[in-house]
Amino acid sequence: MIGSGYVGLVSGVCLAEYGHDIVCMDKDVAKIEGLRAGKMPIFEPGLEEMVRDNVKAGRLRFSTDMADCVPDCEVVFIGVGTPTNKETGHADLKYVYAVAEEIARHVKDFTVVVTKSTVPVGTGDEVERIIARTNPKADVAVVSNPEFLREGAAIKDFMIPNRIVVGIEDQRARPVMTEVYRPLFINQAPLMITTRRTSELIKYAANAFLAMKITYINEMADLCEAVGANVQEVARGIGLDNRIGTKFLHAGPGYGGSCFPKDTLALVKTAQEYHAPIQLVEATVAVNESRKAKMAHKVIKAAGGTVAGKTIAVLGLTFKPETDDMRDSPAIVIIEELVKAGATIRGYDPEGMENARHVLPLITYCDGPYQAAEGADAVVIVTEWNEFRALDLKRIKVAVKTPLLVDLRNIYRKDEVARHGFRYICVGRPGEEITA
Ligand code: UDX
Repeated sequence: MIGSGYVGLVSGVCLAEYGHDIVCMDKDVAKIEGLRAGKMPIFEPGLEEMVRDNVKAGRLRFSTDMADCVPDCEVVFIGVGTPTNKETGHADLKYVYAVAEEIARHVKDFTVVVTKSTVPVGTGDEVERIIARTNPKADVAVVSNPEFLREGAAIKDFMIPNRIVVGIEDQRARPVMTEVYRPLFINQAPLMITTRRTSELIKYAANAFLAMKITYINEMADLCEAVGANVQEVARGIGLDNRIGTKFLHAGPGYGGSCFPKDTLALVKTAQEYHAPIQLVEATVAVNESRKAKMAHKVIKAAGGTVAGKTIAVLGLTFKPETDDMRDSPAIVIIEELVKAGATIRGYDPEGMENARHVLPLITYCDGPYQAAEGADAVVIVTEWNEFRALDLKRIKVAVKTPLLVDLRNIYRKDEVARHGFRYICVGRPGEEITA
């Protein structure tokens, strides 16, 4: 497994758990040394224990050297990052290509090279060309095998996937990939084998669809506010139609994270390049982008039209709960906008504060929600961590200057908040708000 980031590390460890012999490789020496010492580079529930058990069982080890692992492997996964190129909006493939070149130099016998990183359509073709150019003697089959795991539920998603998608051109890879995933078949996971380009596109099509679904309900929330309807009930009312489904219909501050923003943008670029633009996804990207600032203005409006000189407590900084990941978190833009408008921010997040300090250096980091609330003119819930779902509102009330709760994840109800004398603002549920 080349690349021990989120996807690489979780996939590698889970495959080891299923009995395969795995080497997780990364060129980041500190990361590998940490892993050898049992220190995880990311926060993911259950990961640390699983690493420990599999290392102990002799199925998992860590390396910084391709020469040390690639020659003896039947399958080499590429799980390195594909960040957005800031200038072009495209997925930046330099890490994938560099790894392909190095793999080519080290393969010995027939090897299946699998791209697990999320890569644009046609990347498999290019990886194949790079390997052939670097080492004409290399006998490889290049396969696409996108990963659909969610952060925070990564192990469960890998172990009990809705589906496994494998894109193959060279049919010699078919039995090998079937063997890799055979242990998962006991969980009834359907294995879908298709062409490489189709497989590459499935990943983007899935993520863009989910991003679109979230954006749809977010715009519906705005409409609910305008017409006096309740977005949670609209979501339930449409979601019970099983052609629509109830999941991914939670209105909020806009989607973030390492996948949706990057993948929607990359799909837009690919579609434009092939002269087959996908306007729905283009609109999704634009609407989601503007939503974050819109949420900051919601807070400003709730605070009486200005936050200049005011103190705002922000609960939840990561892009979603159960992760320490700050990448493209809506909290970043929301906080930056509030600071621009003159507010002082007191922030708290159960796992994300270390990462948050790099992107949001100017806020005061607090030890818990109650400390964050001290002297605040508004408490804003940006991420729905479980520990914010049952806050001691009596304690918050004592701590704050002004009892105003802005709940951007809709995790409270009017009656719970009203008892404690708060004003309450939420998303797409005007009937639940307490404005005076
Ligand atoms: C996502 C996909 O779910 C996964 O299949 C893919 O492999 C990687 O991208 P992840 O980024 O870990 O996973 O997070 P996810 O749980 O999907 O949430 C993404 C964002 O959407 C978060 O910011 C979340 O808060 C937001 N979201 C999600 C909503 O605002 N409303 C919803 O109903 C669901």
